[in-house]
Amino acid sequence: MPLPGNETFARLLAAEGGWSMVESETRRFPDGETYFRILSEVKGHAVDLVCTLAAPDDQFLRLVFAADTAHRLGAAEVTLVAPYLAYMRQDKVFNPGEAVTSQTFARLLSATFDRIVTVDPHLHRYPLLSALYQIPADSLHAAPVLADWIAANVAAPLLIGPDEESVQWVSGIASRIGAPFEVLRKTRHGDRSVEIAMPDLSAHRLRQPVLVDDIASSGGTLIEAARQFSAMGLPRPICAVVHALFAGDAFALLSEVAARVVSTDTVAHASNAVSVAPLIARHLNTLPLRKES
Ligand code: R5P
Repeated sequence: MPLPGNETFARLLAAEGGWSMVESETRRFPDGETYFRILSEVKGHAVDLVCTLAAPDDQFLRLVFAADTAHRLGAAEVTLVAPYLAYMRQDKVFNPGEAVTSQTFARLLSATFDRIVTVDPHLHRYPLLSALYQIPADSLHAAPVLADWIAANVAAPLLIGPDEESVQWVSGIASRIGAPFEVLRKTRHGDRSVEIAMPDLSAHRLRQPVLVDDIASSGGTLIEAARQFSAMGLPRPICAVVHALFAGDAFALLSEVAARVVSTDTVAHASNAVSVAPLIARHLNTLPLRKES
């Protein structure tokens, strides 16, 4: 069952897995409250609610209404399929008095769903989603699909991680395609202000740099890293990201300094070049109750 804006991805998933789509109806009342209705029979079925969480504040209440309605109508299990899982980065108190939003969001989703399936959540200080979520929470990895895209489309790539948190993605991709990788040093000064220190890349001059990150949000990280390549007279990097959030004019600004920007379809975006739908469908098919009877 897709929530608004997730119909294309849900159809891809349903086609991959051989499942039916649950029909629903939703709209806003004149005062801004949400109306939600499930139109299909869900009793006894596993319902996979498909909603990427790139705009979580706008989507959250509708998600809860949809899950509660499916449970009330007798769904055997209600799973949130969120290819992008939000609120993973504020995972500790950085300044006194701050909300630890990753914990609060996890508690609310855990109270609403029976299971969560997502792709590359931003795990940094928490090693596993199970440290945050009180329900089964499955993290799938997009590195293989991005790696296969790079292997098929880039000759002699040099994989670059823009900061130490990206090592997990960049090293995985590099080893899958047998390419070297380097990691830059990032200092963040604010939401949109980062400083990037480049290592000596002269040994890789003949290679095509490919910057790999899990999330492009303000785009500040990738834009600043890509600018550094130009400043050092290196080829413009190709940028490959899992989650293409690209707030405001981030994509336009990055496109000015990158050779190309590609992403997976965890968030629908003009840069989408590879789909994670087969990956998610394969995983869902390992769970109980998914096969059509
Ligand atoms: C941070 O550690 C992440 O891996 C990304 O580098 C970061 O979230 C990107 O954010 P932005 O696009 O706002 O620089």
